[in-house]
Amino acid sequence: MVPHFDWTKDMSVGDATLDEQHKKLLGQINAIIDRIAGGGIILEKDLVLAMNFFVDYVRQHLTYEEAYMAQGGYPELEEHKKKHAEFFKKYEEIRQRIAESKELPDMLLVDIERYLGNWWLGHIGHEDKKYAKFFGH
Ligand SMILES: [Fe+2]
Ligand SMILES: [Fe+2]
Repeated sequence: MVPHFDWTKDMSVGDATLDEQHKKLLGQINAIIDRIAGGGIILEKDLVLAMNFFVDYVRQHLTYEEAYMAQGGYPELEEHKKKHAEFFKKYEEIRQRIAESKELPDMLLVDIERYLGNWWLGHIGHEDKKYAKFFGH
């Protein structure tokens, strides 16, 4: 079974724009997973494009979210920014491996599940929830 990552109501951070961004972000991870798991020949170029599209969207989201936290005077902003930076490290590792394309799709899927899907679920559910709580949501 192919894993999927879906946004649920209990993940809400109390802001419609941010919730929408989180939903889209998880949707893009699912699209990447489907592309790898879809069977047949994987078009490497397609996968790289999907990953680039995903990370561009992530960047937009994180910029927006960091501005949102800064505007509200969130005291743990710097800490939170560090977590965002950690994501890019993991992302870069995976992107590199896809570019080298030496691995079987199954191996890639496991790491995409772990480092993209689970990372984002954990981040939204724990770290983003902290600012939501601080802002009274
Ligand atoms: Fe977020
Ligand atoms: Fe965040």
